[in-house]
Parts: sequence; C-alpha cells; structure tokens
Amino acid sequence: MHNIYISIPHVLLSKTHFEREREEDMTLLLVPWWVTWVWGVLPIMVAIAWWWNDLRYGTSLVSRSTTSNAKLPPGHMGLPFFGEIFSFLWYFKILRRPDDFINSKRRRYGDGGGGMYRTHLFGYPAIIAWSPAVIKFVLQSDHLFPYSWPNSELVGYKSLSAAQGERHIQLRRFVSAQVNQPSALQRIALLAQPRMVESLRLWAQKGTVTAFDDVRRLTFENIGKLFISMEPGPVLDTMVHCFVGLLKGARAQPINFPGTAYYYALQCRKKLVAIFRKELEKRKENESESQTRNDLMDGLMQMKDEDGNKLSEEEVVDTMIGLVVAGYEPNALASMWAIYYLAKSPMVLQKLREENMAIGGNKIGELITSNDVSKMKYTNKVVEETLRMANIAAFIFRSGDEEVEYQGYIIPKGWKVLLWTRYTHNDSKYFEDPMCFNPDRWNKPAKPGSFQVFGGGSRSCLGNMLSRTQLAIFIHHLAVGYKWELINPDAKIDYLPHPRPVDGVKISFRKL
Ligand code: HEM
Repeated sequence: MHNIYISIPHVLLSKTHFEREREEDMTLLLVPWWVTWVWGVLPIMVAIAWWWNDLRYGTSLVSRSTTSNAKLPPGHMGLPFFGEIFSFLWYFKILRRPDDFINSKRRRYGDGGGGMYRTHLFGYPAIIAWSPAVIKFVLQSDHLFPYSWPNSELVGYKSLSAAQGERHIQLRRFVSAQVNQPSALQRIALLAQPRMVESLRLWAQKGTVTAFDDVRRLTFENIGKLFISMEPGPVLDTMVHCFVGLLKGARAQPINFPGTAYYYALQCRKKLVAIFRKELEKRKENESESQTRNDLMDGLMQMKDEDGNKLSEEEVVDTMIGLVVAGYEPNALASMWAIYYLAKSPMVLQKLREENMAIGGNKIGELITSNDVSKMKYTNKVVEETLRMANIAAFIFRSGDEEVEYQGYIIPKGWKVLLWTRYTHNDSKYFEDPMCFNPDRWNKPAKPGSFQVFGGGSRSCLGNMLSRTQLAIFIHHLAVGYKWELINPDAKIDYLPHPRPVDGVKISFRKL
C-alpha cells in the first residue's frame, strides 16, 4: 500500500532530545492516501454531485437578461443525469407511499414557492406544481405551457393529441360529438351493456377472476364494438396486443433500435394503422352500410367542418389510435378500482344496491339508459369517489415555452412542468380523511380546483363523461346482480405506471 508522506525533514545522524520529539510529531503526519480521499476529496466530490444540477441550472438562469427579482422555487435537483429519480422511486416503488414524495419536500421547504418545487425528473429539469391554484394557472395557460404528447410518433402526428391550435379545437369538437355528448352517451350506453352483462355472467360461472385482466378484456371488446363495430376474434386480439405494445413504448425512452420497447411500439403502430386503413377502405366502398353501423369511425369519416371539409384519412386513423391509447387503460383501471373499493366497503355497497334496485333495471342483466344513470345520485357519488381515490393519472405533463413568473417564482423556459394532481386528491386540506372511501363526501362539491382527475383547460379529458357513464353502468350491473370478495385484501399496491394492487384484484365472484 502506498502512503502519502508529508514533508519529513532529513534524518540527522545524531539527534538532540528536541529534534527527536519533533521527528515523532512529524511522523504523526504520515497519512495513508485513502484517508485523504475519504475525508478530503470524496466529500467534496459528493457535494458537487449532490448540488450539480442546482448549480448547473441555477447559474444558467443568472446569466439571462432580466431585471426581475423572481427566483426559482425551492427544491433540490439532485445528481447529474439522474436528478431526483432515486428519491422518486424510493417513495413510489420501495415505500409505496407516493404522496410522501411531496410531503418530504413540504417538510424540508415549507409550502414551496407558489405551490411549486424545483426538481430534475425523468431526464429533464422540471417544476413540480402541486397546489390547486398553480395547477389551474398552468392548465389554463396553453400559450405559456404548450401540451406535447410524449412520443407523438406513436399515436400519430395527425391525431387529436398531436394537433395544435385551431385544428385541435376543431378535432375536439368532432370527437366530443362522437363520444362525450348526451346523444352519443345514450347510444354508447346501450351498445356497451350487453357485453358487460355477458362478462359478469361468465365471471360468476368461473367463480374466481383477476378483475384487472377481465375488465381490460371487456373494455377492449367494447372499444372494438363502439369504435369500429368489431366482434371479438383474431383481429381484435391482434389489436389488443398491439395497443399494449404501443402503450409500453409510449412510456419508454424513444430509442428506435431493434429490441427496445420503442422499436417494438413502432412495429405495433404499423400493424394498427394497417388494420384501421383496411377497415376504412372497406367502408369507402360500402358507404350505404354506415347508417346501420353508426360507430366512431363512421362518425369521424362523415364529419365536416364549417367549410364542408371532411377529415383526411390519416386524421381519422391517427385520431382513432389516439383515442384508444388515451381511454383504454384508464377506463379499465377505473372499473377495477370500483370492484376493489366496493369489496372493502360493504356499507357503501349496500346503499348502492338499494338505489340501483329501486331505479329500474333491477333484474340481472336488464339494460338501463344513460337517463337512468343521471337519476342514480348515490351511484354517481361512488363514481367520483372511485376516480378520486384511484388517481389513475397521477400527474400531467407540460413544457415551459417561455420563462413565466408566478407569485414571485420563476418557471424557466424549456423546463418541464409536472402537475402533481394526485397530491391534492389525497390532501386532508381538501378532502377530509382522504384515505377513507366515502362517497358521501360528494354531497357537496369539491373545493375549486382540488379535483382534477380529468385535467383541465383546453386539453381536458375528452372521454370524461363517457368514462363516468360506463363506470356507473358497470357498477349498476355489479351491485344489482352479484357479490364478491377480495382474495388478497392486503395485497400491496404498485404505483407505477398506474396504481393497482399487485394481484390485479383477484376476487371470488358469485350471483346474489
Ligand atoms: C377514468 C378514465 C380516464 C381518465 C382518468 C382520464 C384522464 C385524462 C387526463 C388527466 C387528461 C388530460 C391530459 C393532459 O392534459 O395532458 C386526459 C386527456 C384525454 N383523454 Fe382521458 N381519461 C380517461 C378516459 C378517457 C377515455 C375513455 C377517452 C376516450 C374515449 C379519453 C380521451 C382523452 C383524450 C382524447 C384526451 C386528450 C384531449 C386533448 O388533447 O385535447 N380519456 N384524460
């Protein structure tokens, strides 16, 4: 082992007492190299790494030309490249207490600058916005915080999600008329129910089901029916497979290389485009059949803007793909969570049953209408409470297009803005005893801005009413005809990419 010798005087042949004492003192200064590293260099390196991102991004802001005194929100941007990802994963994956990620920041930095913290997450410098006021401000300020769908290549550049400005407004109008308006909901409610009824009957026959797997299948079969009038079979199976691949790729790094999730997702997209295009060609040849089908694809193919122009074929296909991507998983997760919370809340289920049995369609499998749904007051509260607690979209992403000042704090240009909506949904300041599944809390409306499950502003969810109606109808058929129990009531919850119990909500399921 090598030692570092720190300037020792040369040894004299004969030494006085004083010289010997001095020599002994000097030998104490013989320090092994690793001690110098551990106590000297290493802490400096760790400190630099720890503050690297804060220094890097903080100093780049100092050099900009502005007279404003605004400063960055408090926070910590973490290690080079990784930022705060380890802390994020610690709370979301290891501790499984995702809200403590923000709680830990609140303890350290107080309530933040204007309800914001600075961070570095998912590869970008970012501002976490967690208070309802700042979330609302960002969602309402499209011109400052434009929306960009991550990996637009996958949903398609002509999809509604990728569209901007006037075209986006126009496409939203088209799609909303097809899926979210009362007349569309009437039609969808009747089309979607037979499959729900049949699925629940089969579940009871099986006796044990994994709710997430089965509601996913059910949701997709209904999407096939509502979107392109497709019955279950090999083509629909290929589509499910491809959409699952597409969704995985949408969450992955965009590295287009064989073997990566992104590469695979692009292959899936190609197959989906081919399926939708084939269907579109078939329909162009038999236009007269569209009256009998009356599905989303026909609706989109026939719609015209103010100047009488129809959507291009590419727009129809990309919008269809975009809608499935946006709605498939969230809808299935919402149904799964309803099953979970109702199994854990027998009193709620009892009250729900009483309302649903009284309101019509009280026999197993009897269909109800979307007008019936609007009369089911308690059921609608169960829907809201399920959506609040499920926190399916934990956060919403935006980008800062220019530097913005909010309550004396800067949201820098080019940074991501992470709207941490799940935090407010679980904050006792806005929802008393937030971890308790209590539909009665919806006897009065939520405090302004505190309930953002469907986002807000010009990009708010286009399937919000569709999701609510479908969920209410699903709950109706469950409550009227069946009883069920969780097989693993204490199953741990995974929070990434979406919250769900690790066993996918395994239940025993019987007829009432
Ligand atoms: C419980 C189920 C659902 C939840 C929790 C949910 C949540 C959300 C959220 C939070 C946003 C805003 C994203 C943002 O601002 O960045 C959004 C947007 C959107 N959602 Fe949903 N969603 C659900 C179901 C659906 C369904 C069933 C559909 C389709 C039929 C759908 C279609 C869309 C579309 C198209 C957008 C983008 C709107 C635009 O860019 O203008 N969603 N959704």
